[in-house]
Amino acid sequence: MHRNRTIKVVLLSVVALGVVQLVFSRAQTPKRMWTPNKIPAHATFVGSQACAECHGDKVKSQAHTLMGQALEPVATSGILTKHPKLSFRTGPYSYEIVRKGDQSFYTVTDGKETITLPILYAFGLGFAGQTYVLQGSGVFLESRLSFYNDILGLDTTIGQARDVPTSLDDAVGRVMSKDETLQCFGCHTTGTVKGGKLDYQNLVPGIGCEACHGPGGEHIELGKKGEPNAHKIFNPGKLSGDDLSQEFCASCHRSVEDVTALPRLGGMNNVRFQPYRIFNSKCYSDDRRISCIACHDVHQPMKDEAAAYDAKCAACHTAKAAEPAATRLCKVESKNCTSCHMPKIELPGAHFKFTDHRIRIVKPGEPFPL
Ligand code: HEC
Ligand code: HEC
Ligand code: HEC
Ligand code: HEC
Ligand code: HEC
Ligand code: HEC
Ligand code: HEC
Repeated sequence: MHRNRTIKVVLLSVVALGVVQLVFSRAQTPKRMWTPNKIPAHATFVGSQACAECHGDKVKSQAHTLMGQALEPVATSGILTKHPKLSFRTGPYSYEIVRKGDQSFYTVTDGKETITLPILYAFGLGFAGQTYVLQGSGVFLESRLSFYNDILGLDTTIGQARDVPTSLDDAVGRVMSKDETLQCFGCHTTGTVKGGKLDYQNLVPGIGCEACHGPGGEHIELGKKGEPNAHKIFNPGKLSGDDLSQEFCASCHRSVEDVTALPRLGGMNNVRFQPYRIFNSKCYSDDRRISCIACHDVHQPMKDEAAAYDAKCAACHTAKAAEPAATRLCKVESKNCTSCHMPKIELPGAHFKFTDHRIRIVKPGEPFPL
């Protein structure tokens, strides 16, 4: 499987897509896969609260994860409420984000002309920061500036030009194409993009239960009657390790295939794409002990102390003879494995250090391995 995927990636980058894909998918065992951000038009969702009756603990804890809050309505945005006036200046342009009641307004002026737009949604609650989607005339715009936790203030959005804007329009932000708008909302909301259309009126912010498990209506009906119901809901935990990491979580976190298609592999920015990074680690295989869910319970806030992950490494890096593939033990240290082998890497302009999922021996002074 591991090897198959390598072949697929290499071939995909040089040969015409269709033919190779066909050959490859025939070699794969058929699987039932719910793809979180490719939701069919007919899917109907009941909402996370409907799961609470029987899975109460998960509903409570998942709401506090970053994924659960991957998009915030402006009215309840913690950052925008806590910082009622944010400002920034670049060249001749002055910016302000100002709170008025439960709305926030994004203003740019060059001293002569002024553009003020309402903020529609706040994307990301994350460690790194928050980007704003603005309502232009008939289009959505991605704000040129984002809020960063590290500086408790505004700076240029990752991926946008860092030099002085060339015009007032340019200073506001970037017009999002229709496709990009669908993708943004597809990865940061639940069931809002269905059959390739954005159902803006019924937007459900953040990644809820059904984003990952698919529609839950039938499952609940059977459950209430006390009938077997597990087969009526998708459980990603039943996927193979590699499918889970490279297909399922990667549908939003970006797979080897996604990154291979980027110019220069996305440059240093690919440190954010964990499925890609871990794929290139010697530890990686189809083994479920190295899949995303071996280390992350997505129903709980992420653990941030290195010691919490030691047992995950020890699952393979053990002196037990039953584990011949990875009996190599560390001669340097017996705890806090990730602190050295999964280094935190500062992405220029992101005001944040991402955790490099390419588990490896880090050589002092080595360049970032793309
Ligand atoms: C009326 C009770 C009830 C409600 C409401 C309910 N479930 Fe369940 N769920 C169950 C039961 C019972 C099982 C089977 C548990 C078992 O066999 O251990 C289950 C199992 C599951 C499983 C595991 C399936 C598998 O393949 O093992 C998932 C995933 C799941 N539920 C998700 C959800 C989601 C998401 C919602 C809300 C959309 C939800 N459930 C609402 C009762 C419920
Ligand atoms: C529908 C899209 C989507 C899917 C599917 C998805 N993620 Fe995420 N994930 C996100 C987004 C968006 C964020 C960033 C949220 C933020 O910072 O505001 C995120 C953040 C995270 C975080 C940061 C910490 C936290 O508490 O949320 C972890 C860990 C994570 N994802 C793991 C996973 C794993 C493991 C899977 C697969 C089981 C997965 N994700 C599937 C969209 C997704
Ligand atoms: C293919 C899925 C995908 C698309 C499309 C996408 N995101 Fe994300 N986004 C993610 C994931 C996964 C993360 C968490 C990993 C990370 O922090 O980079 C994330 C993180 C973020 C963060 C940082 C949160 C933090 O960790 O502090 C912001 C802000 C953000 N996205 C905004 C946007 C905006 C705005 C768009 C559209 C212009 C967009 N995203 C499009 C998946 C996506
Ligand atoms: C980011 C994707 C994601 C989200 C969001 C998510 N789950 Fe899950 N869920 C998973 C994965 C992956 C597994 C398999 C975990 C495993 O086998 O270790 C799982 C397993 C489960 C199970 C069965 C295994 C168990 O631990 O009992 C239930 C029940 C469940 N989820 C309910 C929910 C409910 C309820 C919500 C919403 C509050 C939810 N999930 C949100 C990805 C997700
Ligand atoms: C061997 C353990 C391990 C595996 C497997 C793993 N992670 Fe992580 N992940 C970590 C650790 C450790 C951190 C950093 C925790 C901290 O210090 O805050 C982390 C952090 C993250 C973050 C937060 C952003 C960052 O850069 O710190 C995201 C998102 C994430 N992981 C997603 C994933 C996804 C998706 C997969 C599957 C491709 C995955 N992880 C597999 C250990 C793991
Ligand atoms: C699924 C089993 C598995 C897990 C879990 C796992 N590894 Fe590995 N690891 C391996 C295998 C297999 C190799 C390659 C063995 C070899 O090259 O002889 C390896 C190699 C390594 C290497 C040497 C890399 C090099 O460049 O030579 C380091 C360092 C390492 N692992 C650290 C870790 C750490 C730290 C963790 C936990 C965060 C971890 N591993 C989790 C299986 C695993
Ligand atoms: C203080 C930093 C540090 C910590 C913490 C650490 N290591 Fe290492 N590890 C290293 C260095 C440096 C090397 C390379 C040693 C050499 O080549 O002489 C290494 C080598 C390794 C190797 C390759 C061994 C070989 O024979 O080639 C493995 C596997 C490994 N570490 C796993 C782990 C695991 C698992 C943990 C946690 C129990 C861990 N490391 C904790 C720094 C660390």
